[in-house]
Amino acid sequence: MHGKSVLITGATNGIGKVSALELAKLGAEVIIVGRDEIKTRKVLHDLKSQSGNANMDMLVGDLSSIAEIKRVAAEFSARRDRLDVLLNNAGAVFSDYQVSADGYEMTFALNHLSYFILSLLLLDILKRTASDQGEARIINVSSSAHRNATLRLDNLRDQSGYSFMNSYGASKLMNVLFTYELARRLEDSAVTVNAVHPGVVNTGFGHNTGRLWSTLIKVAQKLIAISPEKGAETLVYLASSPDVAGISGKYWNRKQQKRSSEHSYDRQQQTRLWEFSAQITGLGEAED
Ligand SMILES: NC(=O)c1ccc[n+]([C@@H]2O[C@H](COP(=O)([O-])OP(=O)(O)OC[C@H]3O[C@@H](n4cnc5c(N)ncnc54)[C@H](OP(=O)(O)O)[C@@H]3O)[C@@H](O)[C@H]2O)c1
Repeated sequence: MHGKSVLITGATNGIGKVSALELAKLGAEVIIVGRDEIKTRKVLHDLKSQSGNANMDMLVGDLSSIAEIKRVAAEFSARRDRLDVLLNNAGAVFSDYQVSADGYEMTFALNHLSYFILSLLLLDILKRTASDQGEARIINVSSSAHRNATLRLDNLRDQSGYSFMNSYGASKLMNVLFTYELARRLEDSAVTVNAVHPGVVNTGFGHNTGRLWSTLIKVAQKLIAISPEKGAETLVYLASSPDVAGISGKYWNRKQQKRSSEHSYDRQQQTRLWEFSAQITGLGEAED
């Protein structure tokens, strides 16, 4: 990965942090994105000393806010002209209905809109890198939780009937639908985009869900979850392995292509999500 530049969101904890460490160890220039400046600075310091790679940097922004995501992308673009790997990883589950700065349900705002906006705003740099270097990659961290979900876009400003598992599953389905739609739109370029389920991983995931749920999640994590190191393996593989060069529009788990849910292959739903996201963010052209 020497000479390559990697941008990772949600890199201050869990699998994003381990991926940053592993990719830095492989020699990449890693730029981490965190939401809290002090925490991000500390993580950056630790990652540099653990990896022995000083060629690392950071950006700070709340990725549930459209303006903040756009600012992070603008700051990256202003400072750099190369991006080999964009790893969209920041994500969470919210036990209570929460509203983002833009008035959208928080899971949708963070888990889907940050992937959509960062990918689109950094596409020019990714395409430039791909034409100079032969390829560039986008990796979207999804979840097997997408499997029970259907796409709903009519309840994103509506608290009634909120279920955190449904909202989370829907946001992770959006990650897969978005991956497939973007892959089609990038067919003529050397930029690939893939989605990944990291496994059930023992991270900070779900620890913000109140006493009862977070206790249950922590117990389950102790019993059945894999380590963040193991959970990051497929992310690092997709970011760095020559084996996956040129492969795009796939869903991965344990370093293997897997079939995602039937619903995720529905082209109408992929396009519907794209157009809806384009309309509310002001990015992305209308359907070709
Ligand atoms: N853990 C699992 O079992 C599992 C399974 C399937 C998929 N996933 C997916 O894996 C990804 C990473 O999750 P994880 O398990 O590593 O969880 P985690 O340990 O909770 O890490 C989540 C990361 O996202 C960041 N983040 C949260 N809200 C943010 C915001 N508003 N703006 C910017 N960054 C924000 C967190 O920042 P802070 O450090 O400031 O909190 C942290 O760096 C998520 O997309 C999740 O859906 C996880």
